[in-house]
Amino acid sequence: MSADGNGALLSVNNIEVIYDHVILVLKGVSLQVEEGGVVALLGANGAGKTTTLKAISNLLRAERGDVTKGTITYRGERIDRMTPTELVGRGVIQVMEGRHCFEHLTVEENLLTGAYTRRDGRAAVQADLEKVYGYFPRLRERRGSQAGYTSGGEQQMTAIGRALMARPKLILLDEPSMGLAPQLVEEIFEIVKQLNEHEGVTFLLAEQNTTVALRYATYGYILETGRVVLDGAASVLAQNEDVKEFYLGMSAGGRKSFRDVKHYRRRKRWLA
Ligand SMILES: Nc1ncnc2c1ncn2[C@@H]1O[C@H](COP(=O)(O)OP(=O)(O)OP(=O)(O)O)[C@@H](O)[C@H]1O
Ligand SMILES: [Mg+2]
Repeated sequence: MSADGNGALLSVNNIEVIYDHVILVLKGVSLQVEEGGVVALLGANGAGKTTTLKAISNLLRAERGDVTKGTITYRGERIDRMTPTELVGRGVIQVMEGRHCFEHLTVEENLLTGAYTRRDGRAAVQADLEKVYGYFPRLRERRGSQAGYTSGGEQQMTAIGRALMARPKLILLDEPSMGLAPQLVEEIFEIVKQLNEHEGVTFLLAEQNTTVALRYATYGYILETGRVVLDGAASVLAQNEDVKEFYLGMSAGGRKSFRDVKHYRRRKRWLA
């Protein structure tokens, strides 16, 4: 992976993000996503994962957030001034944290909303709907159910399925594991893997669940208070002593390192 991101599908170069004109949240974040990769963006609560994804998909403005420095390129083209719709047209789709289904619509209607920008006709859309049901058999069973009454896992599947209906090249997936039982988390990540391998979808996914994310990712970045503190091949990160201690909950025995142990110790959520 070249340091300047040349040749990467997505390249985020030293971006700074400020909310409400004063709250500096990202302090120079750089990352690269190679075509065909599954890249994990890891870090604790409030580290800036969602902000990074929204900076890429240009959903920040709705939250009074601004990219004030740096650049973002996709296939070598600057995308930091594009609208979310222009990005969807290029195959860059974000699946938001918290699933965000249209609760009053059925599962199938939700899936079809993902195809709204497509101009290739009903038959193609129907074929893709079948493909989504192939990956998510459970959604076929629930196709007529009102999304608001389906389970958390089914809503996460619906949200990913809806993204698939837009024929994505790059999916920005925010906390797919959130609020789901371990078995379901595994199921969702298995499908991510299938989509990556068989549909050629590249993923940049934000996760607090470092253990699972590193098992499925090819590469990872660890964010701390708006900065990347570590990055590397997922298999290397999973073996890194600091990552094991602070993010995977495996203490190496009295080791004091990374940046500030006390700072990490407060994050009980991480050590569970
Ligand atoms: N609209 C907003 N206005 C002001 N500050 C915000 C806004 N959204 C997020 N922040 C702040 O930006 C920081 C990063 O938040 P962000 O949601 O990107 O973190 P995260 O890594 O996704 O966390 P989590 O794992 O809890 O989802 C936090 O300190 C948060 O309070
Ligand atoms: Mg988040």
